[in-house]
Amino acid sequence: TTIACIFDLDGVLVDTAVYHYQAWKKLANSLGFDFSHEQNEQLKGVNRMRSLDKILDWGGVQKNNEEKEELATLKNTWYVDMISKMSAAEVLPGSLELLQALHAKGIKIALGSASKNSGLILERTNLTHFFDAIVDGNAVTTSKPDPEVFVKGAELLKAAAENCIVFEDASAGVEAAIAAKMTVVGVGEEKNLPGADIWVKDLSAVSVQQLIDLVVQKNK
Ligand code: G6P
Ligand code: MG
Repeated sequence: TTIACIFDLDGVLVDTAVYHYQAWKKLANSLGFDFSHEQNEQLKGVNRMRSLDKILDWGGVQKNNEEKEELATLKNTWYVDMISKMSAAEVLPGSLELLQALHAKGIKIALGSASKNSGLILERTNLTHFFDAIVDGNAVTTSKPDPEVFVKGAELLKAAAENCIVFEDASAGVEAAIAAKMTVVGVGEEKNLPGADIWVKDLSAVSVQQLIDLVVQKNK
């Protein structure tokens, strides 16, 4: 079996989930409210405007479209300030090693991220050259849990969905991968990522052979 791998970015390959959280929290606080860690889980994998809508909803704050654009831009300015200072040291444990091992075996690799900042992050962390295809927030019209981002990734890799493995830290992303009929490695806890095929703390716990076995097993 020839597998293909589609990686989420924030929280899977790089430690940017914490920057998103800090920037959204700062925005909420500036509007006079706060939100919890549990609520933050619901923002993972969700695109910028949908995230803002959820946060405003939690705060019971209403804004018109023009104001929402301004707030989203403000949050992104803070976020871009943080990620502009990133380095390869912020690649999460095991991610570089897994990308290298997949690359060495000629296994195709795509990015499947909701972020419009993926280009900057991949560049800052020296990961760009690993990707045969990049599908990010600039390339899709619908947000995870819609499967569009992963379906496009598989198309670009010329891979059948049943041979694709998605790596996700977000519940919306796991849902999207399931809807795309792909195998899912949940990066995080089972309780936060229902429906994944396996769960790992980070990618250091994953070998290429294990991924191939997982797909073979699933397609039986
Ligand atoms: C990822 C993150 C989300 C973020 C989204 C959009 O999916 O998990 O928290 O909202 O990307 O990111 P962007 O960089 O375009 O604001
Ligand atoms: Mg993520």
